[in-house]
Amino acid sequence: MSQGSSVVIRPARNISGSIRLPGDKSISHRYAMLGAIAEGTSRLENFSTGADCASTLGCLARLGVRWERHADAVEIRGLGPRLEAPGTPLDCGNSGSTMRMLSGILAGQEFTSELIGDPSLSRRPMARVITPLELMGARIQAADGQCPPLRINGGNLKAIDYTMPTASAQVKSAVLFAGLLARGETRVAEPVRVRDHGELALRAFGAEVRHEANQVRIRGGQGLRAIQATVPGDLSSAAFFLCAAALFPESQLLIRGLGMNPTRSYLLDLLVRLGVRMTVTELEEKHGELLGTIKERGGMLGGATIASPYTEMLIDEIPVLAAIAPYTETGIEILNARELRVKESDRIRSIAANLRRMGAEVEEREDGLRIPGAQSLTGAEIDSFGDHRIAMAFAIAALRARGETMIHGADAAVISYPEFFDTLEGILER
Ligand code: S3P
Repeated sequence: MSQGSSVVIRPARNISGSIRLPGDKSISHRYAMLGAIAEGTSRLENFSTGADCASTLGCLARLGVRWERHADAVEIRGLGPRLEAPGTPLDCGNSGSTMRMLSGILAGQEFTSELIGDPSLSRRPMARVITPLELMGARIQAADGQCPPLRINGGNLKAIDYTMPTASAQVKSAVLFAGLLARGETRVAEPVRVRDHGELALRAFGAEVRHEANQVRIRGGQGLRAIQATVPGDLSSAAFFLCAAALFPESQLLIRGLGMNPTRSYLLDLLVRLGVRMTVTELEEKHGELLGTIKERGGMLGGATIASPYTEMLIDEIPVLAAIAPYTETGIEILNARELRVKESDRIRSIAANLRRMGAEVEEREDGLRIPGAQSLTGAEIDSFGDHRIAMAFAIAALRARGETMIHGADAAVISYPEFFDTLEGILER
């Protein structure tokens, strides 16, 4: 069992209420990093409250970037493209996004830096970012050539034309950020379309970024200008409440200011296909990102098979979809999801282990899961495996289980969503 606090979740009768989500984690990381290398002071309202984005801000401070966190916004005083050499290692905590994307910026700096992480991050694959950045001219040392800590010898980068072997938005952003600091035009092609927040953020900060077919291009040497922005609510955090409301036919949930970037919002299509009733209003675009209001009512949940390219688009939502799968009519099958094995925990293993503890039948495969429908679950002792999305996903599974569920290591939720358990409590009817 994980160390840390435990939370007890009792079954609920219904979900009802109106909520707002803290700012999107993926966008917050990118706005903070680009704000750091822009000219001027960026003001970022509704910045993510998660520990991962705090790790990014902590690293930026060590690189000489001054920032302040106010009640409603984070203000970042940009240094322009040249950061200051850090005197100590940069601690990325649990955050793969911090380590991979910041590597792109550090590859373009004329100094050596070291990136470290917690035990979970120290096991995660970094070759995917080391390979393209070395092709651009950086020299990077890693444990076994693969895992953190990373020691980056940067500077004097040249553009590359790179096709990512693994679909990864973090790698795409890292290469584009390095490309901004390199000579020539950098091109990155993606095998499957992944989230485009990096491209949109670069444009918001004034860079010209071109996108044709599956390739993104950026010219090096462009200067960035500070922005005033409000970060859209995090759809991957909203996913827990959207799936909770989906479990109760009488539920009514309203979420305002929610990020609905089309490269992120496939969950909404899937929930509608499963039988959930949903309306989207007040759709608007800010700094290239779509956001809007969602009104959701529950329904009868059918079943689904999720395969590439949808698996990649839903990658962060799979834990909660798997956790509600036993309550669907025909179950959920997840294919092409090998990447889940190298997230904050081995999520295929964590999901299967916890579903079994709750009495569910589940087939664990090397690259996915099959979870039959029409099952009833029993409250049990669940382990977060130190993984924020596993802790939150099983809080949702517990709402329709028989009896109480105790989630050990529930404090992992702080990584992306410290307010999660309080917000959940506020919309539960018992
Ligand atoms: C993210 C991309 C995804 C996702 C992660 C955040 C991002 O990872 O799972 O939580 O902000 O770009 P990969 O890029 O490794 O697929």
